[in-house]
Amino acid sequence: MSHSPVPRPRRFLMCEPRFFDVRYAINPWMHPEAPVHVGRAQAQWRALVEAYRAHGHTVETVAPVPGLPDMVFAANHALTVGGRVFGSLFRAAERRPESVPYTAWFKDAGFEVQQPGSVCEGEGDLVPVGRWVLAGTGFRTTRQAHHEVQEYFGRTVVSLTLVDPYFYHLDTALFVLDDGRDGGDGRIAYHPGAFSPGSREVLARLYPDAVLASREDAMAFGLNSVSDGRHVFVAPGATALAGRLAGLGYLPVPVDLSEFHKAGGGIKCCTQEIRENPS
Ligand code: ARG
Repeated sequence: MSHSPVPRPRRFLMCEPRFFDVRYAINPWMHPEAPVHVGRAQAQWRALVEAYRAHGHTVETVAPVPGLPDMVFAANHALTVGGRVFGSLFRAAERRPESVPYTAWFKDAGFEVQQPGSVCEGEGDLVPVGRWVLAGTGFRTTRQAHHEVQEYFGRTVVSLTLVDPYFYHLDTALFVLDDGRDGGDGRIAYHPGAFSPGSREVLARLYPDAVLASREDAMAFGLNSVSDGRHVFVAPGATALAGRLAGLGYLPVPVDLSEFHKAGGGIKCCTQEIRENPS
């Protein structure tokens, strides 16, 4: 069934990849011995910023800090819903210092930040959609953090177990096409093979109309997409997925972040959404 989904302008927080690099390996994509082209990474990142702005979205930036090569992955730093910010506590020691400049950015922007008591990697593993917050665990964010998120936002958190190390964050295996802010349950796309059998069943029950994507699309970072409800900013390698989305009435906007794939990240990883209104 084809329809014409309606876009909604978003407020995004991003971080320029001036000091981006792969210096350590905390997921299977990362190979510190392979070269990273910082100039290319910067050009790709700027193209993503331009694509967002060209479609009416607001992009704000937090200043990059030397020595923090993964700081570009803004999604990991918080979940913000209704102007309430739940911050980050990284699993890897290498990434823990990143929380400081992001917390400072939120304070300067007028938000208070609730600090997690257990490992929690922001929108990397926490995805609000419809009535729920879908929450990944298995590699990074803990179930204890899921519980904290439910208490903080007063929204039902649905814990999902990730089982494939290539899809170590929920946002590498699942994204929101329609966040349901108009009152419905919303709509998601995901790669079932990234989830435990029970979690797969939960997703099938909650989202019977979800778009299911292959492992090939997921390995091309196709599930690490950002949708405004109509335009889907998606990795150009995820061709089957983009074709399915176009058939459903969405408008795929291909943006190539191949340099960031070397760190295990893509479009969504570089993008945090600041949701100011309660939903
Ligand atoms: N190298 C980073 C890490 O492993 C990549 C983070 C990607 N971010 C994301 N939201 N999936 O932590």
